[in-house]
Amino acid sequence: MSKYIITGGYKLDGSVAVDCAKNAYLPILAGTIMCEEQVILRNCPKFVDVLNMCKILEKLNMKVVFQDDAVVINGENANPNFVPVEVAKLLRSSIFTLGAMLARFKRARVAYPGGCDIGLRPINLHLKGLRDMGVKITESHGVINCDASNLHGGKVVLDYPSVGATENLMMCAVLGKEHITILNGAREPEIADLANFLNLMGAKIYGAGTSTIEIDGVDRLYGVEYTPIGDRIIAGTYLIAGAITGGQIEVTNCNPHFFASLIDKLHNSGCVLRVKSDKIYLKSPKVLKSVGFVETQSYPGFPTDLQAQILALQTVSRGCCVIQENLFESRFKFVPELIKMGANVRAKERTAVVEGVPFLSGAEVYAKDLRGGASLVLAGLNAHGYTTVNDIHHIERGYCDLNVVLNNLGASIKKVI
Ligand code: EPZ
Repeated sequence: MSKYIITGGYKLDGSVAVDCAKNAYLPILAGTIMCEEQVILRNCPKFVDVLNMCKILEKLNMKVVFQDDAVVINGENANPNFVPVEVAKLLRSSIFTLGAMLARFKRARVAYPGGCDIGLRPINLHLKGLRDMGVKITESHGVINCDASNLHGGKVVLDYPSVGATENLMMCAVLGKEHITILNGAREPEIADLANFLNLMGAKIYGAGTSTIEIDGVDRLYGVEYTPIGDRIIAGTYLIAGAITGGQIEVTNCNPHFFASLIDKLHNSGCVLRVKSDKIYLKSPKVLKSVGFVETQSYPGFPTDLQAQILALQTVSRGCCVIQENLFESRFKFVPELIKMGANVRAKERTAVVEGVPFLSGAEVYAKDLRGGASLVLAGLNAHGYTTVNDIHHIERGYCDLNVVLNNLGASIKKVI
């Protein structure tokens, strides 16, 4: 298993462009299933999850070619092959193929999805929403069998603004003759980006990015070129890397409006920030202040995907901080690893209490999931001495060459395969 060996104590200083958003690229890749023509997606990030999603498209007999910075996809000969557990379990986003396949082929067979082990991650909201649209669904032996030959229009209400369920239902309604209204939809920027991509291909989706989304089914979609938005979670991770090392950093290719909640917390911690429409600059204070309280919410609240990273920052911020994780039931698995590094954290169920210490100390730690693993890297940047972060395959699902990026900013990280 690969690992990072981090020599802590170096201040980061420099500018970095973030990759395209993993959580935009993944549903957009699923959306290409609905198009019978060539689609070119630019700035393709080589996250493991993106590569695995492309494997699923190939399982559906689609052509996928990586060309320079782009991925070229042709779904002319796509068919609704079974998405087996071997690939479905590799990532949560395999479930997004359901909506896209039902839109184009009116049938789909997909094994239950995988994803970071941060909670139960049921798909009941996806299935209830599809059933409310008239999709007939049976589940047996871990496989979901769907028949959308009797898809009907009308209103679908989500009990909770699930990101994935909103994207799945939106895609299922794109082709056909029905008008579907999704109420209590998620408002994440990645959903608006998916809708922008689909509308460029000829879809008729209105209101994406708000909690009420209207879709008018169309006959077909047309090939396009598209560049998804920058990754706001990676942008936030880099900003926190600048703060936790006492350095300064400029992050480009991002829209700071999409992570305003983090910017507010970084202000409260004493950082100086200069915000532009497509980039942001941060200078860390000499002594970081605790931000007091962080509560994860669906967008535009504080993102759960930045909870681990801001918790790492709080371990070396003066004062006490309470962190409430409202979205996932086991998203503190990285906390025992931080405690090995001298962090003063007490976590129970969905609440963590963090007492800041002057600095962390290097240790042998283990990544358990994507964002928790990233937070261990951030802690290692601050720690005195050497930190070995093991099982970095978790991190590589959502960060490309994190060691290279951070070393270019002044860190000292060695990757050992
Ligand atoms: C998306 O996951 C993201 N993944 C996650 O990012 C992110 O943490 C999450 O949204 C919340 O923002 C992708 O976009 C690929 P949800 P998703 O459905 O769609 C419950 C990362 O680190 N729920 O909004 O799975 C669920 O258990 C990943 O990049 C149901 O109960 O998230 C959770 O408690 C991690 N039933 C809450 O809703 C359902 O049918 C939010 O889940 C679906 C969800």
